[in-house]
Amino acid sequence: MTQQYSKKDFQALDDVLPFQDRGGDSDSLKLALRSLAGGVSVITAGDGDERTGATVTSATALSVDPPRMLVSLNRSSSTWPVVEKFGAFAVNILGSRHEALANQFAGIGGLKGPDRYRGFEWTRLATGAPLLDDAVAAIDCTIEEAIERHSHVIVIGKVHAVRVTGRRSLVYQGGAYHHLG
Ligand SMILES: Cc1cc2nc3c(=O)[nH]c(=O)nc-3n(C[C@H](O)[C@H](O)[C@H](O)COP(=O)(O)O)c2cc1C
Repeated sequence: MTQQYSKKDFQALDDVLPFQDRGGDSDSLKLALRSLAGGVSVITAGDGDERTGATVTSATALSVDPPRMLVSLNRSSSTWPVVEKFGAFAVNILGSRHEALANQFAGIGGLKGPDRYRGFEWTRLATGAPLLDDAVAAIDCTIEEAIERHSHVIVIGKVHAVRVTGRRSLVYQGGAYHHLG
């Protein structure tokens, strides 16, 4: 589902959300996190038929000096083993035109591996990880450290190269994609 973002829309959302105090269980946390607007990226890794990747909202910078990214990946996803094997990954920050790509890399429609890349152009920069040609920005990393914790692995990426196109990014909130006006 696509929605155009405007200040009024978020005001309306704030008005209809019922006030609730809840426990610290998983469902309560999920409910709370639905209200957090996040930038959408796809993590890409691998080569040829071994390429795969995932749509994430967890990618962000750990630090800019030194330049390090972090992303939290589900250990049972198809992406983590490929990131681990190749030792490299890219964080591709998506824009308004990439909603279909976000769905592909979320595995919607059962797409797996290299099929998630179809319909879009990809090139490589420094590490060999695939970078989306018209990403809002793409950040090319090698794994500096991976911390396995609970269901996920926190991957710290050392930045080797960056591509910036200056477009507006895609936002996910309340279970829907929003386009910055
Ligand atoms: C908006 C959105 C954000 C997501 N964020 C994450 C994330 O931060 N980490 C993660 O491991 N999976 C995240 N996912 C789920 C993965 O995209 C999805 O599980 C994966 O691509 C499919 O798993 P598979 O590769 O094992 O088929 C997110 C999905 C969506 C739609």
